Amino acid sequence: MSKTKRICKAAEQVKEVVQSAQLNVAYHFPCPIYLIERPDFLEKVSKVSEESLERRRKERQLDDIYPMIMSDNYFADQRIVQFTEFVGATAWNILNEQGYFMQDKVVQFTEMWTQEHYKQSSMEQHTHGYGSQIVGFYFLEVPENSSRLVFHDPRIGKSLIDLPEADSIQATVASKMINFEPKPGLLIFSNAWLAHSFTRHASDRPIKFVHFNFNVNLAQNVLSPAPAAEII
Ligand SMILES: [Fe+2]
Repeated sequence: MSKTKRICKAAEQVKEVVQSAQLNVAYHFPCPIYLIERPDFLEKVSKVSEESLERRRKERQLDDIYPMIMSDNYFADQRIVQFTEFVGATAWNILNEQGYFMQDKVVQFTEMWTQEHYKQSSMEQHTHGYGSQIVGFYFLEVPENSSRLVFHDPRIGKSLIDLPEADSIQATVASKMINFEPKPGLLIFSNAWLAHSFTRHASDRPIKFVHFNFNVNLAQNVLSPAPAAEII
């Protein structure tokens, strides 16, 4: 029997086994990504964001290689306190719901900027270290053909031995990444250990989004109280 025939027979045997037995599958070590639509924050956040972007636009010309503008940090701006309290409470609640002991801890902003990406701009794959635990995005302006937000499979063992996917368009256990189509008012959160990137922006009008990160501290080490947690 040739090697090719033996391989074909093995594949048929696997098919027979799958058809005749219902496997019980235990999924563990998931990579949750949280989405919530809150367009009610758009007006106030856009106003604060635009003021900072306008200052930056005056300071520097748009770069041909990296055609994007990034605002200053503005998480302390009192005009958007309802937004910052909501995302802070959501970040705390995510960690609490995931099973971490959060009762004596608070989350704190490490950064919150707006990024304005022009045509051809993208964001390369990265994680946020230096203590970040939760990362998030809030989309302000999303013209047609905008960048997509991509999260990458963090399983190092899988990436080392990975096989080609049967259909990379489908989201399966074999997927190496998953993308999300932004829309104005959409908030997306994930754990900071999940690497993210943005695909190349293809619109003549820029995409604008807030990007924020949180670290975790013991409440007793923090002077100001944490925002009250909400159940999500
Ligand atoms: Fe990032």
